[in-house]
Amino acid sequence: MNNPINDFHSPYRAVIAGHGSYIPEKILTNEELAEMVDTSDEWITTRTGIKKRHITNENESTAFLATEAAKKAIECANLNAQDIEIIIVATITPEMVFPSTASFVQLALKAEKAWCFDLAAACSGFVYGLSIAQQFIQSGRFKNALVIGAETLTKITDWKDRSSCILFGDGAGAVVLKRSEDGKRGIIYSTMHADGNSWEALNCQAYGSRYPSSKKLDDPQKIYMQIKGREVYQQAIRRIVETVNHCLDHCGLTIDDIKMLISHQMNARIIESAVKRLNLPDEKVFLNINEYGNTSAASVPIALDECARQGKIKRGDLIILVAFGAGLTWGANIIEF
Ligand code: UT7
Repeated sequence: MNNPINDFHSPYRAVIAGHGSYIPEKILTNEELAEMVDTSDEWITTRTGIKKRHITNENESTAFLATEAAKKAIECANLNAQDIEIIIVATITPEMVFPSTASFVQLALKAEKAWCFDLAAACSGFVYGLSIAQQFIQSGRFKNALVIGAETLTKITDWKDRSSCILFGDGAGAVVLKRSEDGKRGIIYSTMHADGNSWEALNCQAYGSRYPSSKKLDDPQKIYMQIKGREVYQQAIRRIVETVNHCLDHCGLTIDDIKMLISHQMNARIIESAVKRLNLPDEKVFLNINEYGNTSAASVPIALDECARQGKIKRGDLIILVAFGAGLTWGANIIEF
């Protein structure tokens, strides 16, 4: 492997010092969904790779999931919550309109030193969050950052809409990024992108300032997620391939240098098509969508945590995290783990 470039000309690297995830216990299987809408296990499995998803009960909120994942990441990093200086919670299903979900996490963790905010970049939220935390660490401003992806998408799911309700699940994943001065390990490069043109392909329109709760909605469906899956399917494949290739070119690496690609889990067929174009063998691609469905911002950190805990990646391995979602947004982080 070549020595990848350091864009920041910084003596520091942002190293993944700890990771964790939290998944609600309750499971909803494809067979159970087939009793609710006109679908089948066979259709869902062949079109998406999803077999089941985990769903929150009414007492489990986004901040709760985020806090549980964060506790595990902090413990894994051998730190205390009081060591954390910034908390970023990537989510599109926040605890409230305000204050931020991150404020509730800060409170629950007693992370008194940390300032905190939410980041709404849908399925790309976690890779966006890593990129932001990376800047604070490489600039020398902070030593320890907590980045969380947490979602309760099933709370904005229309359980009568078979084109969307089969896709999504709930969960949270987190990492602690730590400043290091001793070598190459850490985030090597992050690249983030957006294109608002196709915002209508994936959205949940109420309640915000355009459709406030104080006014009657022209269409009651606006309180639910709406997706035009077919419209974004090809674009997702194209953007994943383009972004991964850009990262490799920029860092002077080849696909053979990569130990594992950890993609946002939106659809197994999308990921499989993308990795075929990238010439990546199956054993270098982590998939867990069968168990969780699409958990938006939580999907990449849950997959990263599972991949590491299963021993599929180890210290020093080169990995790529890549995501694509509503906005549209997409991005990738290339990391020496
Ligand atoms: O993370 C980013 C957010 N995620 C996405 O944007 C998802 C990306 N898109 C996808 O994953 C896929 O487009 C879907 C899984 C959503 C849909 O798969 P598809 O192969 O693109 O199906 P389609 O929408 O073209 O629909 C094919 C047929 C339609 O019937 P007709 O018109 O051909 O008779 C649908 O009505 O399948 C029908 N259909 C279903 N049938 C059984 C749609 N949903 C279902 C269902 N069960 N759940």
